[in-house]
Amino acid sequence: MRERIVQLTIVDDYEALSRAGADLMADLIEARPDASIILATGETPLGLYRELAERRRRGELDVSRARFFQLDAYMGLGPDDRRSLYGWMKRSVLDPLDVPEANVVRLPGDAPDIQAACRAYDAAVRAAGGIDLAVLGLGPNGHLGFNEPPADPASPTRALDLTEESIVSNARYWGGRDEVPRRALTAGLSVLLAARGTLLVVSGAHKNAILRRTVEGPIIPDVPASYLQGAANVTVLADKAAWGE
Ligand code: PGA
Repeated sequence: MRERIVQLTIVDDYEALSRAGADLMADLIEARPDASIILATGETPLGLYRELAERRRRGELDVSRARFFQLDAYMGLGPDDRRSLYGWMKRSVLDPLDVPEANVVRLPGDAPDIQAACRAYDAAVRAAGGIDLAVLGLGPNGHLGFNEPPADPASPTRALDLTEESIVSNARYWGGRDEVPRRALTAGLSVLLAARGTLLVVSGAHKNAILRRTVEGPIIPDVPASYLQGAANVTVLADKAAWGE
C-alpha cells in the first residue's frame, strides 16, 4: 500500500469530530495568535465552530488577532441575501467568536468587477504571508470550496459554474434547487493547496465513497480533494460513519 501522507484521524461521532477540530484550531491560534485561517461554510464545521464559541465564552480562547478568509460565495448575492455564504459564516462563526469585520477578508459575489475582486482576494492572501490553516468540508463530488471536478490544482481564485451535483447537494440549505445560484466564486485550489495546514472535516455515511477516493484513490482532477494527498500538513478528521466502520 502507498504511504499515506495525510494525517487521518477517525473519531466515534460528530461530537468527537467537533471537539477534535476545535482542539486543532485552538492550538494553532494559541501558537500563532495572528494566524490566517480560511473558514468553510456547509454543515460539517458547524459543531466545531460552536465548540470554539463555547471556549471563547469560557475565556479559554482569544481570536482577536487572527485573520479569517471566506472560502466561497454565490455570484450575485449581497451579504444581506439569506443565501449569502458570508452571512452564513458571520452567523455561524464570526459573530459567535466576536471577530471584528476588519479581520475578515470577504469573497464578494456581488462585486461589480468579479475578476478584480478575485485578484484582490489572492493579493490579500499573499499580503498575509499565505494561509496558516484552511478549514474545509468535502463536497459529495469531491469539491473543496467550489473547486468543482474536473479541477486544476493551479487554479486561482475565480468565478465558475456550479456542477449539477453541487446545486442538488446545496438545495437542502435553501429549500430547493431553484433557490441555488448557478455560478459561484471560490478560493482557488492554488490557494488551498499552498496552505501551511489543512483541516478537512467529514461526517456521515453519505461521504464514505468520496472520502475513500480522496484519501486512498489516485490524485485526479475528477476528485479535487485528492490533491490534498500532495499538500503539506493535512489533517483529515472523519467520524466512523464517514470512514465506513
Ligand atoms: P457539508 O458541505 O459540510 O454541508 O456536507 C460540504 C461541501 O459541500 O463542501
